[in-house]
Parts: sequence; C-alpha cells; structure tokens
Amino acid sequence: MSAELISGKDLATNIKKDLAVEVEELKKQGVTPHLTVVLVGHDPASESYVKGKEKACAETGMGSNVIRLDETISEDELIQTVDKLNKDDAVHGILVQLPLPDHIDEQKIIDLIDPEKDVDGFHPVNIGRLVTEQEGMVSCTPLGIMEMLDSKNIEIQGKNAVVVGASNIVGKPVAQLLLNRGATITNCHIYTEDLKAHTKMADILVVAVGKAHLITADHVKEGAAVIDVGINRLEDGSMTGDVDFENVKEKASYISPVPGGVGPMTITILLKNTIIACKRQENVE
Ligand code: GUN
Repeated sequence: MSAELISGKDLATNIKKDLAVEVEELKKQGVTPHLTVVLVGHDPASESYVKGKEKACAETGMGSNVIRLDETISEDELIQTVDKLNKDDAVHGILVQLPLPDHIDEQKIIDLIDPEKDVDGFHPVNIGRLVTEQEGMVSCTPLGIMEMLDSKNIEIQGKNAVVVGASNIVGKPVAQLLLNRGATITNCHIYTEDLKAHTKMADILVVAVGKAHLITADHVKEGAAVIDVGINRLEDGSMTGDVDFENVKEKASYISPVPGGVGPMTITILLKNTIIACKRQENVE
C-alpha cells in the first residue's frame, strides 16, 4: 500500500484563492484587512519568514507592513511599539516575529498584544479560549494541520490521535484542537519512555519535534494518517521532516510531505486569521 499524499502546497494555493475573493468583497465594503509584522534584528530565518508573509499578503490583496527594529532596541521601546499597534484601528493583526533577542522577555511582549489582534494565537487569553472552546484566535500551524486532515475527510471523532512534541506553538495547541474534535489524545514529549508504544496506537499521528526521521515505519500503525511538521536540514543542504517518508508512506493511508506539507499552510492560515480578526474588529461579514 502507498499512502495518499496530503499536499499542503496545493491546499494552501486553493485556500489563498478563496481568501483573495473574500478580501475583494471586504474592500467593496471599504475594509482592507491589514497585518503588521514586527521584526527585531536580522536573524536570517526570521527575515525569510517575514518576506514570505509579506508576499502572501500582497498575493491575496491584503495590506501589510513590517516594522523593522534594531536588535539593540530596549524592551520598553518594543512595548511602546506594540502598544501603538494595539491602538491603531487600521491594524487588524499584529505578529511579533520570534525569537526575540535575549534581553527581551518574549512572554511579556506576547502578553501585551491585544488578544483580538493576536493572529499568532499565542496570547494566554487565546490559549484559554482554545481550551474552553470559545471563539478566539488559534495558532496557525495547528489550524493548518486540522485543515489538511479535513481536506481528506479524515475521521477525527473517537479516533486515537498521538502528537509527538509538546511545544506551545504546535504540539499543545494541535493536541487541544484534536481533543476539541472528539479524538482521544496522547501528547508525547522528550520524557516519553516508550515512544513507539504510543505512536503505534495512533490513527492520526502528528509529529512536531525537529529531529530528522525520528518516526520510522516501525512507529506507525497500518492505515494511519501521518502529519509531519518537522523541518530539518540535512548535511547535503536538502530539507527533510521528522518522519522517514519513503518507508512510512508504505504503511500509512495518508501522509504529508516535507517540503510542501505543513509549511505552506502556516502562512495561509495567518492570512485567514488576519481576515477573521479584521471582520470581528470592523463588524463586517
Ligand atoms: N517564528 C517562527 N515561527 C513563528 C510563528 O509562527 N510566529 C511568530 N510570531 N514567530 C515565529
């Protein structure tokens, strides 16, 4: 058996087309969704992510700008920048690119972003809303994973979902989203003693660890749906996931590739979140 591919790339392209239509409709009502990204310093990976976000906003007709701040900026100056954006009615979404320099308390900055403009879904109020199943902003990669599962009508309710990785950005929120949809969840992490014993039970397996080929065919139940969030650079410069794709695809029923899987979905959901935030703030449909 060879698994069916879940292409995040193709799905993202389709969703972006729909978002562009939605943006056009909003513009007719005099509203343009606007995302502001705050970038502190010149981390090459962050620069590249931010460029991707700007490009995607432009493609869908949304407004965006990047506030670039020197890495020597004080915490107070960054606080003032975020405060200004919170008060700016023309800004619907605020994203402070992480990581921040060591002298700035990241959580303090996240806590300061207006939860209604927190398109990353990182604010504790939004995390609380996710846990209590209230309307809020949900972080982009986990939502993207859910859309990938839904694009193939993969059953979630009553199924065993195993998430490997317990980060605040991916592992914990995706486990919560799966729980909210009625899955029985297991969240594995670095202290999990027998990883394989857990992953072999998974009907849905989400891996977000950052360790190349951690998950082999031995870890996977026949017919499972496998979502690989890992992005790892090999010595030859190529990119690979946390899942041994070539072998696991022979056992799984669905599998997402790296590259072209979860990655392209994250930015697309950021655009979607900005549009949702815009509609709520402007009281338009
Ligand atoms: N750095 C890497 N990924 C992300 C993300 O999703 N959001 C923010 N704010 N920073 C990041």
